Amino acid sequence: MIPNLIDTTDLTEKEIRYFLRVAQAFSEAVKKNQSLKILEGQTVVNLFFENSTRTRLSFEMATRKLGGGVMSFSASSSSVKKGETLIDTAKTIQAMRPHALVVRHASAGSPHVLSKFLTIPVINAGDGFHEHPTQALLDAFTIEQKLGTLSRKKVVIMGDIAHSRVARSNINILKKLGATVAVCAPPTLLPPSPQVLGVEAGYRPEDVLPDADVVMMLRVQFERQNKMQIPSVEEYSRYWGLNRERAALLKPGAIILHPGPVNRGVELDPDVADSDRSVILDQVYNGILVRMAVLAVLCQPEHLQQWLKKEGHHV
Ligand code: CP
Repeated sequence: MIPNLIDTTDLTEKEIRYFLRVAQAFSEAVKKNQSLKILEGQTVVNLFFENSTRTRLSFEMATRKLGGGVMSFSASSSSVKKGETLIDTAKTIQAMRPHALVVRHASAGSPHVLSKFLTIPVINAGDGFHEHPTQALLDAFTIEQKLGTLSRKKVVIMGDIAHSRVARSNINILKKLGATVAVCAPPTLLPPSPQVLGVEAGYRPEDVLPDADVVMMLRVQFERQNKMQIPSVEEYSRYWGLNRERAALLKPGAIILHPGPVNRGVELDPDVADSDRSVILDQVYNGILVRMAVLAVLCQPEHLQQWLKKEGHHV
């Protein structure tokens, strides 16, 4: 039983594999237009204190595809604006008897704190520069869908590693699934001691791209920097952006991921973002399947087991 999904360091390889296999089972059910009722009678609350397009909408869609109801909370139009605290807000929502809380917050650790005050499952939809577990699960799912396996694949994560929750969660999950992970960024966008990440760190895209099976591009997170840590956006793009010339260094069959939102022309050239190597929109769709899996595993584990058995899935 998995009570909450807050931190990828807590997940075992077996648990990660379970989420991915359940997502695959849901993919097949959705393709067959099967009506799913695993969350029937349940309500999921999306509590978002930061902007989101993909994560919030895909959690909403995932809940609906499983037959559940969804309520979405936006901090900017709530009583938070009148001074209500995060914990009081979450307790108020729990008093309405929902069945799970999906939370995004700018402060690292806030989903963890909430999980200590609540009795329903808490799912981290991104907390500051700490973690974004469902993004890493959907990235792993997408890579395996495109390349067959993660085992012994080289994944290069390029961009603003220092401020990226996506990089942290992906490093943990991809390594547990057998991939070799490397990061590549200007020194100012890497942690002061890159070895804390537990992966190889490089500074020049030209050194790391030829060996990559997967390139994961990241946006520069200006909103998490006290002052701009690169000389200029133009210079960053010139030396660190994935343009046509750098993409030509990739092996045949190598794929390009980006968690979105993409800053076209900064970290990724429009031509490359829209090329055959890009799987960005597959990531978006797979986000629904993976979030269906996460909600089902956390909210209705027994019901899910019965459904899997009935459908002949041995996960
Ligand atoms: N990848 C991601 O978290 O996107 P959103 O901010 O749009 O949810």
